[in-house]
Amino acid sequence: MQAIDGHTRLCGLIGNPIGHTISPVIHNTLAQREGRNLVYVPFHVEEGRLRKAIEGAFALDIHGLNVTVPYKSEVIGCLAEMDGMAGKIGAVNTLVRTANGYKGYNTDATGLYRAMRSEGICIEGEEILILGAGGAARAAAFLCVSKGAARIYIMNRTKEKAQKVAEEINHVFGKECAVPLRLEDYGKLQAGKKYLAIQATSVGLYPDADAAVIEDGAFYERIHTGFDLIYRPSCTRFMKLVRNAGGKACHGLKMLLYQGVEAYELWNDVSVSEEDARMVYDKMKEAMGIEE
Ligand code: ATR
Repeated sequence: MQAIDGHTRLCGLIGNPIGHTISPVIHNTLAQREGRNLVYVPFHVEEGRLRKAIEGAFALDIHGLNVTVPYKSEVIGCLAEMDGMAGKIGAVNTLVRTANGYKGYNTDATGLYRAMRSEGICIEGEEILILGAGGAARAAAFLCVSKGAARIYIMNRTKEKAQKVAEEINHVFGKECAVPLRLEDYGKLQAGKKYLAIQATSVGLYPDADAAVIEDGAFYERIHTGFDLIYRPSCTRFMKLVRNAGGKACHGLKMLLYQGVEAYELWNDVSVSEEDARMVYDKMKEAMGIEE
């Protein structure tokens, strides 16, 4: 544990609930490794108190904050400035202190990109299936198009939501690159083609670990790589179905790692080495009891 003195910088996480978080492992491990006088703590913020919490954090000279459920959109109204990509996504998970208030970033998207790269997964030129049309899916969809995906299919239970996200993406990027699709309409995808799929729904999340949005093996035959944003459990039903059909499957813990690494880099104006990131990742797995 970092020795706390009169120069200790404070960073933290605001959300509700936050009891399950392992983000302190990421930031406190990095700070310790670097010998940086910084500590990171979770702050439980009750509904209706977000603005006060942000103003209070700024007044207390809190250096940087992560923001989690349910405040990733609401927090935008409390910020002095927004990063362009976060503005497009419409969600913020990292606040960086500036002279007049906090600036909002979305390191969920950039963290997903770094996680995918570290797994050898390529986005550029790919046709990508995105399962879901909620906040996590939006971040994944914007990331994929901004990194040069040839086309994305936004597949959702509620078609209207998929349609809305697709329209917005096509408008923002000025091209018809996003196609909305009902989950059960995967038969409309090009026959014989293999896709990268990003599982961005909440289905399969602990404790409902035996569920996947699509069960039909015929769908999984079309997937060469499946990336589940869920990391609890570390092997989701979606991942099992992808592997059963011969594809490669990853869970979302590396995305969590790299969203934290990117936030740490923004707060401290440093670049975290892959070796240090790997060391933090091992600590996260240890904290969560994951072996693979
Ligand atoms: P997050 O911020 O984690 O993305 P969210 O915005 O609530 O959470 O989005 C949850 C996503 O999971 C949505 O795409 C939702 O589909 P709907 O838009 O149809 O609600 C999807 N989802 C949740 N439960 C589902 C279920 N039982 N079957 C299919 N999709 C489900």
